[in-house]
Amino acid sequence: MPQTISATGLTTGHAPFVEEARSRGELYISQAYDLYSEENHEAWRKLYQRIRPRWEQYANEHFLHGIEVLGLPPDRIPHLTDVNQRLQPLTGFQTKPVSGYVPGFLFFDCLRRREFPTTITIRPVDQMDYLPEPDIFHDVAGHVPMHTGKAFADVLVRFGDCAHTAVEMTGMIADHAERTRRLTNIIKAMSRFFWFTVEFGLMKGRRGTVAYGSGLLSSYGELRNAIESPEVQRYPAQLEWLINQVAEIDRYQPLLFTVDSFDHLFNLVGQLEQWMREGKLNNVAPGPPEIRENDLRSFMDAA
Ligand SMILES: [Fe+2]
Repeated sequence: MPQTISATGLTTGHAPFVEEARSRGELYISQAYDLYSEENHEAWRKLYQRIRPRWEQYANEHFLHGIEVLGLPPDRIPHLTDVNQRLQPLTGFQTKPVSGYVPGFLFFDCLRRREFPTTITIRPVDQMDYLPEPDIFHDVAGHVPMHTGKAFADVLVRFGDCAHTAVEMTGMIADHAERTRRLTNIIKAMSRFFWFTVEFGLMKGRRGTVAYGSGLLSSYGELRNAIESPEVQRYPAQLEWLINQVAEIDRYQPLLFTVDSFDHLFNLVGQLEQWMREGKLNNVAPGPPEIRENDLRSFMDAA
């Protein structure tokens, strides 16, 4: 490996190894563990040590159990092969290193196969608090512990099934404009649902309300804000809200939804699929997220 590549490490926005893979059109890559710099490991160490006490306080018990059984190292970026060795026997899930954004259908289809597209880069050590894109701390410390429990793993797989239903429901529409319109609405509904549950979901627990969403579990500041702030609105999760509510990604979420259990969440995904079949997702509230061209194409190509 040329010196220039290894010297820059695998830092978000400055990772030639990843950028070169992307320019070659390679979505699925290796972790290239030896490329991590000492500064990259330091970023992991700082993030992990800072948030650990907050997990004890605000994370749901399935997540805490997941952290325990995965044995993530507190001081070094984990090897994904080690993570997979512990994870796969539990739920069949595996991390799958990727070079960047995974278009909608491919992402959900990975979940259906119990593969989790995983970012390998880590945020710069001087940008601990906010990053608009996922990094390995968000993906591995925020998401993967949730994949160690059967009930939540089944929710993700069920979500992958929904993506296939979306293809089935729109694949036969001959009018391209109408097909695009319906798919855009369905993908919007699925993205909002995913955002307010898998990324920012709250759950009733024995200790009161706790977090299970990975956007919360990987954010030192927002995790506490989500549970403690009197200004955050917390409502029982209902499908009508989950598919129509707009979110802004660059601020603490002012509105969050609470599920009773993962069985409750699983049933909501079932209801989402049912509504899709009934055409109820064909006209959701306008507004963000904007559905990218490659997301739409990924669903169309799957038909
Ligand atoms: Fe995420």
